[in-house]
Amino acid sequence: MRCRHLNPEHPEENEILVEGLEREVVMVQLSDTHLPAADGRDPHPARQAAAHFAAYFQQRTPGGAVVAEIFAGLLDRARQAHPDLLALTGDILHFPSVAGLEWLRHRLAGTDYLYTLGNHDWFFPYQTWSDAGRQAHYPRFFGLTGGNPACQVRRVGGLRVVALDNSTYQVSPEQADFLRRQLATGDPCLLLLHIPLATPSLLPAVMARWNAPIVMGGEEGWTAETRAHWLVGEVQPGTRACLDLVRQAANLVGVLCGHIHFARADELRPGCFQYVARPGFEGGCRRLRLKPYR
Ligand SMILES: [Fe+2]
Repeated sequence: MRCRHLNPEHPEENEILVEGLEREVVMVQLSDTHLPAADGRDPHPARQAAAHFAAYFQQRTPGGAVVAEIFAGLLDRARQAHPDLLALTGDILHFPSVAGLEWLRHRLAGTDYLYTLGNHDWFFPYQTWSDAGRQAHYPRFFGLTGGNPACQVRRVGGLRVVALDNSTYQVSPEQADFLRRQLATGDPCLLLLHIPLATPSLLPAVMARWNAPIVMGGEEGWTAETRAHWLVGEVQPGTRACLDLVRQAANLVGVLCGHIHFARADELRPGCFQYVARPGFEGGCRRLRLKPYR
């Protein structure tokens, strides 16, 4: 399948020529808005989590603006682009409060979207970060993820958009199988993840910013201390299978992700780029225009 990324270096607007599309497809990607909405329905954790948010993210918004206003503005801007699909690539909420989920459901009404979860979406900072915590909070997201946050797919204009939850830095063998089946259709595919895939060109920038290789499949650069801090274990078989699929699948157009909080594009293999969006709390988003390759 022929595929050409015309301007991957642009941080916000990208064009891709894709063989096999039925028509032009417009996508808008939003990531890492870290909305800290909370009320009395999650009283104790919400107060702590809001304080945690104020200590870090609020100082990084443009002019100290409130995230809910930035987020609402980004959604308005996204709708003006008339996207076929809105890609929400995780850490959309800073924690899974009932108030945050309600705000999101209300704001997304009438928009076609795929939402893959980030490590913050399902985590209250007062809790211990673990896969068990993710599983415990999954039901809160069923209404926003078609009942299955782990694996989702949407076909639009001949493009198959696949979303996998890799917010523990791993995917399960079942998720890898799901991706394999989607790729086996032969459709041009686009993969949504929260955590970027390790690639040699990206790793130095991630190390410089975070002092740890906080990407999926990053095997070099960890220390015992950074592994303990980030709670990232060795690469598991499902994750390895997913990485192999991405490297080999000729019909994978690209990967959209977030997590590392800076805009980035890296070639995974000829014809396939991984795009990271500038975080939403900074006012960032990315628009992709995919056109039939003729
Ligand atoms: Fe984030």
